[in-house]
Amino acid sequence: MAEVLTRSQAEDRESRYRELLPQLEALISSETDVIANMANVCAALRETFGFLWIGFYRVENTSLILGPFQGPIACTRIAFGRGVCGTAWSEARLVLVDDVDQFPGHIACSSASRSEIVVPILSEKRVVAVLDIDSDQLADFGPVDAQWLTLLAQHLGQRWPTL
Ligand code: SME
Repeated sequence: MAEVLTRSQAEDRESRYRELLPQLEALISSETDVIANMANVCAALRETFGFLWIGFYRVENTSLILGPFQGPIACTRIAFGRGVCGTAWSEARLVLVDDVDQFPGHIACSSASRSEIVVPILSEKRVVAVLDIDSDQLADFGPVDAQWLTLLAQHLGQRWPTL
């Protein structure tokens, strides 16, 4: 596929996800390198939605380690169960936070972050990474984001390299 995203004038988030997901799936399916795929996913989400921070943390032994991302520099390692990302990993579930200041143990990489969504990526029933998105708006994420980002995470997980 051409290295350019096709976007209509759609303004609402659901329509944008609906347009973006097939393009991302095509991109991911045509490339076996997971780092390259994560990098393009971040760039595409940033280009489409303009969120403050979009990135991946990969599971490596007892930590999450920063992977490809778009946005301000971020903390590089997160322990199992710590912060929003570590919670999504330890509980193997999507975590949606309307107000990061109300989330016990939230790790503030950027003081501009107000709300956050973290989606685990599972491969063969194990969490192998998380997709983390931060917004500078309170309660910026909802069921539409959860639904589409879960689909994206499933797609990435199905193509995750196995040892
Ligand atoms: N806020 C996250 C840390 C990662 S940054 O947002 C990029 C957390 O609490 O896990």
